[in-house]
Amino acid sequence: MVEKHKSIILGITGASGTVYGLRLLEYLLSQGYVVDVVFSNNALKVSKLELDQDWEGLNVQLLKQAVLEHLFKNLSGVADPETSLDIDAVKKRVNFWHESNIAASIASGSYQVEGMVVSPCSVGTLAHIALGTSHNLISRAADVMLKERKKLILVVRETPFSSIHLKNMLTLSDAGAVILPAIPAFYHRPHSIQDQVDFITGKTLDSLGIDSDLFKRWK
Ligand SMILES: Cc1cc2nc3c(=O)[nH]c(=O)nc-3n(C[C@H](O)[C@H](O)[C@H](O)COP(=O)(O)O)c2cc1C
Repeated sequence: MVEKHKSIILGITGASGTVYGLRLLEYLLSQGYVVDVVFSNNALKVSKLELDQDWEGLNVQLLKQAVLEHLFKNLSGVADPETSLDIDAVKKRVNFWHESNIAASIASGSYQVEGMVVSPCSVGTLAHIALGTSHNLISRAADVMLKERKKLILVVRETPFSSIHLKNMLTLSDAGAVILPAIPAFYHRPHSIQDQVDFITGKTLDSLGIDSDLFKRWK
């Protein structure tokens, strides 16, 4: 029998905080998930500015290799040290798709997936999802989540919010999405940026129904 892994779609857009999406990818992979990843073209511009990673213009296979190498080198390592992850083994569980590839499997409601996260989610992509424009593979896959009544979590990052942003968030919350803005807390006594990234990532995993101990819970 073929071993079946649970699968999550991850959209990474051009809002500030590429690291949120990367940390989630790292955690999901460390827990044995299959992850379908779509970077928007603008996310690649922002990651260049925020992480000094020049991934623009790479085809999806080269982008996948570059992102995985970055994860293995720069992030906090696999969440569970007992799960010794090997880059070649992980590669088999990650699919990268170009944002323009609307023929990708994840563009269809017949694709078997637990849910989707857009992290970070720009207010531009938020608007496209709220309007149902399916303008690229991220907004199309998100639209599919809503029509199939599957989990859709949007880690929106902008400040302050205009009433247009707030209305779009309400529309999407009413349609079944979880609006999980990248708003850090302080009750868990963060000591580092990594603690704050892990707080948002942990809350995202909670919304997906995936157990994690990425942040200290209030007792
Ligand atoms: C350095 C940088 C930071 C940005 N930060 C944000 C942000 O936090 N939130 C946001 O909605 N847009 C932000 N933007 C603007 C988006 O990248 C822009 O609206 C883009 O069209 C979003 O496209 P996408 O949703 O297809 O990725 C930022 C742009 C740059 C260059």
